[in-house]
Amino acid sequence: MDAVSEVAYGPGSGIDTRTIAAAKSVMSCCGSRGLNVQLPGKPGCCWEATAPKTSYRSLDRNGEADVAIIGAGVVGLTTAYILAQAGLSVAVLESRRIGRQVTGRSTAKITCQHGLIYRHLIEAFDIDLAKRYAEANRSGVKQICEWIDDLDIACDFEPKDAYTYTIDPARRDEIEAEAEAALRVGFDAEVLVRAPLPFETAMTLRFPNQAQFNPAQYLIGLAKAVKAAGGRIFENTRVTKVKPDKRWQVTAGPGVLAVQHVVIATNLPMAGPVAYDDRTQPRCHIAMAFRMAPHAAIDGMFIGIDEPTHSLRMGRDRDGPLLVALGPKFNTGQDGNVAARFRDLEQWVRQNLQVGDAAWRWANEDYDTADRLPFVGQPSKKARGLYVATGFNGWGISNGTAAGVAIADQIRAQPNSWASIFDPTRPSPKGFNQGAGTQSSVADIDAIPVGQGGVIKRGRQKLAVWKDMKGKPHVLSASCTHLGCTVTWNNAERTWDCPCHGSMFAADGSVIHGPAVKPLAAKKLPSMRTRRRVRRGRTSATS
Ligand SMILES: Cc1cc2nc3c(=O)[nH]c(=O)nc-3n(C[C@H](O)[C@H](O)[C@H](O)COP(=O)(O)OP(=O)(O)OC[C@H]3O[C@@H](n4cnc5c(N)ncnc54)[C@H](O)[C@@H]3O)c2cc1C
Ligand code: FES
Repeated sequence: MDAVSEVAYGPGSGIDTRTIAAAKSVMSCCGSRGLNVQLPGKPGCCWEATAPKTSYRSLDRNGEADVAIIGAGVVGLTTAYILAQAGLSVAVLESRRIGRQVTGRSTAKITCQHGLIYRHLIEAFDIDLAKRYAEANRSGVKQICEWIDDLDIACDFEPKDAYTYTIDPARRDEIEAEAEAALRVGFDAEVLVRAPLPFETAMTLRFPNQAQFNPAQYLIGLAKAVKAAGGRIFENTRVTKVKPDKRWQVTAGPGVLAVQHVVIATNLPMAGPVAYDDRTQPRCHIAMAFRMAPHAAIDGMFIGIDEPTHSLRMGRDRDGPLLVALGPKFNTGQDGNVAARFRDLEQWVRQNLQVGDAAWRWANEDYDTADRLPFVGQPSKKARGLYVATGFNGWGISNGTAAGVAIADQIRAQPNSWASIFDPTRPSPKGFNQGAGTQSSVADIDAIPVGQGGVIKRGRQKLAVWKDMKGKPHVLSASCTHLGCTVTWNNAERTWDCPCHGSMFAADGSVIHGPAVKPLAAKKLPSMRTRRRVRRGRTSATS
């Protein structure tokens, strides 16, 4: 068999450069000519901020294991814990620190209520598939609750009811139809007119006895359990290559692990015989957490079906209770003014709920699929022993746990009653991924405000230029190291986001979120003389 994937090594420092860069420039004013990006709240996620620090070492030498698990999110650690408990030798390779990526930055509702899903599944497939989806997620929820209890994981776990609501009387029938579908697949669903929210709703669907938690604390607790069960965990270890041989060869920095099974649990696979790039669409959300007085607190987890959609729940950080609010989804890297989304969200929250100061703000992304089911398992018979998990459509806490269980069952050759509905070999419509161009093109470096970034064209190459707070330009190739799409500057997170498959890079070019594994290449700015000539169109300088 040929190499499954051959990709170069990225820095994988694991330090959250996104947060550092954003923190340095929080509340920054971008000069007289500049876009004034003053945003409320501290950059960063409230869950990460209240989670303990971890310090697992990096992989620094060659080794062996039964199973290598790439990625310590909910999928990776679920798989790892089950397999370590079963006595397999497991190595978890995490490019950053545990709990700092998609799972750790989610709204962390542990629920089978996924907006309007069951009617869709019955209509698009059949009742049997909808029942198995329900079973997978019920098992996922149950598994999380059991582990939190058995392993004594301190993660602010709270049982809560989940509500899907509309404020539009014309959409009442959609809620009613979802309630009927939910009852058919075995949920104790109830229709209410009013959600327990301080604003009017037209119709609401309630699922009792769901739950919420702090996902970063949960992952860190689960990682500890993996270690206690004999598993090995490596942080700041970005895998750059997965290659078949007699055993799979998994390369990260100076180390290569030879393993029998490899689980690519990197949110979107960073390697593998089948690309999921065209079968998925990265969807991004912005989130904010506000101080809230106890008398104004909401009780439950809420998601609206109207546009713009909002999601709400309570949470907490070290300073007390918080209202966590999520804004509507947008395609990653396809919005040139993400900062405006934070202002819109804050305005909506203040109009509808009684909140105090904005405490935190962050962005997060996940992957949608055409049929709203994840892809989980062995993507090809030709790559026996290689597993992927992706496409959780924004509901990967329960689905991701179910995915981890399914992969662990497959590795142990155990039966699993929902793995087949997540079949990663099923077809997907061509062109589902709606990649796009950069949203950050500027004519010249002078058009880039201090603290911000823009993409300039020089001859054939596109340069991603970020000006630090002193106005010093930092120049990178704007070509995403995954498949070459041109990145967009995210003016709120201060990251370079890829509008094709969702890779995210810090302002300095280092990888935050894959599938890219290599940093954006450093470039030199053309000299003033060359720039002047380029402007007059007399040359096509490339550096
Ligand atoms: C805004 C938002 C809110 C959400 N809220 C909810 C919710 O309330 N309930 C719910 O059920 N779902 C929710 N989701 C969805 C859910 O969070 C995700 O589907 C799920 O967490 C994905 O888990 P994962 O393990 O695939 O990814 P991750 O948690 O991102 O784990 C993947 C890990 O792989 C690591 N990695 C990546 N590349 C490499 C590499 N090359 N080498 C080594 N390691 C690598 C990453 O650093 C990361 O730690 C939400 C999603 C978003 C975007
Ligand atoms: S993530 Fe695929 S080209 Fe950027």
